[in-house]
Amino acid sequence: MRLKFLPSFVKRRGRITKKQEHSLRKLDNYSIKNLSEIISLSRAYECCTLEIGFGDSEYLQRQAMENPSTLFIGSEVYLSGIGTLIGAIEEKKLSNIRIFPDDARILLDQAGESIFDEVVILCPDPWPKDRHHKRRLLQPEFIEMLLKFLKWNGRLYISTDWQHYADEIKANLNHPSLKKRNSLNESRASTKFENRGIKEGRKVYMFDYIKTKLESN
Ligand SMILES: C[S@@+](CC[C@H](N)C(=O)[O-])C[C@H]1O[C@@H](n2cnc3c(N)ncnc32)[C@H](O)[C@@H]1O
Repeated sequence: MRLKFLPSFVKRRGRITKKQEHSLRKLDNYSIKNLSEIISLSRAYECCTLEIGFGDSEYLQRQAMENPSTLFIGSEVYLSGIGTLIGAIEEKKLSNIRIFPDDARILLDQAGESIFDEVVILCPDPWPKDRHHKRRLLQPEFIEMLLKFLKWNGRLYISTDWQHYADEIKANLNHPSLKKRNSLNESRASTKFENRGIKEGRKVYMFDYIKTKLESN
C-alpha cells in the first residue's frame, strides 16, 4: 500500500520500559480519533492547543498543568513518548490532555473548521541530509493544512536547532495569513531536543507567529 504522506519521523517504537508498556495499555482512555471528538471535547474549555511531535512531553505536561482551562491535544507516533505522557497524566492527574497517537497529518487531512488557538511544533525531525529534506514536516502544504485549523489570531509556535531547517521554516512562514509576533513572552522549560541541540553547540531558533486576516486594499 502506498502511503499518502512520506514519513516525517525517524522511528515509531524505540526502547519501551515496563512502565511505559503498562501505561500504553491505557491509551484508549486518553486518545482521540478525529477532529469531531476534539470539537466536542473543546466546548468544555476556553482554549484548545495542538502540539505535534511532543517527544518526551515535558512542554506539553508543563503547559497542561499551568493552563487548566485549555484542552491540549498531543500528536506523536513515538510509542515510548506516548507511554511517558500517559504515566504523567495519571501521576499528575492532568485531565486536560488527549492524545492522537499517529501522524498529525492524518488528523488534519480532513475538511474542517478552525478549532485551535495554538499549534506548537518543537524541534521537528531535522532530516539534515539533502536527499531527506523532502521528509521535513514544515513544507508549504503542511503549513496550509495547519492554517485551516488555526483560529484567527491563533498562534503558530515552532522551534528548531538546525540552521538549515530554520532558514527553510522562515521562508515557508512567509505567508500572507501569518504575522510575526512582537516578542516571545514565555517562561518555559526547554525540551529534550532543544537541550541536546544547545549541548552540541547549536542555537535554538524560535518562530512565533499569529494568523491574521488578509488585509484588503
Ligand atoms: C526530534 S523529536 C522532538 C521531540 C520534542 N518536541 C522535543 O523537542 O524534545 C520530533 C518528534 O516529532 C515526532 N513526529 C515527527 N513527525 C510527526 C508527525 N507527522 N506527526 C506526529 N509526530 C511526529 C517524532 O516521532 C519525534 O518524537
